[in-house]
Amino acid sequence: MTDRLTIALIYGSGREGRFADTIAGWLEPELAGFGQYTIIRIDPAELTFTPGGLDEASATLVESRISQADAFLIVAPEYNHAYPAALKAIIDSCFRPWHAKPIAFISYGGVSGGLRAVEQLRLVFAELHAVAIRETVSLAHAWTHFDPVGNPFRPGQLNAQLAILLKRLTWWADALKAARTTTRYDEAAA
Ligand SMILES: Cc1cc2nc3c(=O)[nH]c(=O)nc-3n(C[C@H](O)[C@H](O)[C@H](O)COP(=O)(O)O)c2cc1C
Repeated sequence: MTDRLTIALIYGSGREGRFADTIAGWLEPELAGFGQYTIIRIDPAELTFTPGGLDEASATLVESRISQADAFLIVAPEYNHAYPAALKAIIDSCFRPWHAKPIAFISYGGVSGGLRAVEQLRLVFAELHAVAIRETVSLAHAWTHFDPVGNPFRPGQLNAQLAILLKRLTWWADALKAARTTTRYDEAAA
């Protein structure tokens, strides 16, 4: 492994009463426990949205965090067989800072576990020259995985899936970071 990696943790839901906070309550301490990542958060609940997308201050903040990141972990719920509009506004707020960086998904929802949203996100991130990795942690009927105070019922299983996902994400982040250092991505097809 190379340097410590910066992962931008992006929440897809800004909905009041969102289940995303239960996922965060499990995920963030787990990520910290690995001790090898600097985590920066992009949370729609802390951003301002306009009919045209993020307002200027939020767009600037998001662009700077995406630029800083070596890799992305997107916590994506499924809304009507797709991903939430708030997440699209975050994604669309910049272009080049996504280039040649890896993305992994933790998806959740009802019967589909958010996988239909993830399949759509893969198409979107191809357009942004980003690498969506195969491994996904998917929580079908997400609320059945956690007790009323947010502890997972099967932490071993969930954490093992997360560990595999992070190993893949780290491999890609290290490889792409080294490649971007050798040749600027823009120059590769200049
Ligand atoms: C507007 C809306 C549409 C939804 N559509 C789906 C769906 O198509 N498939 C599914 O499995 N779950 C669906 N759900 C369930 C959500 O994935 C689930 O409630 C999840 O917890 C939402 O994430 P959040 O609470 O963090 O916003 C939907 C929920 C909402 C609010």
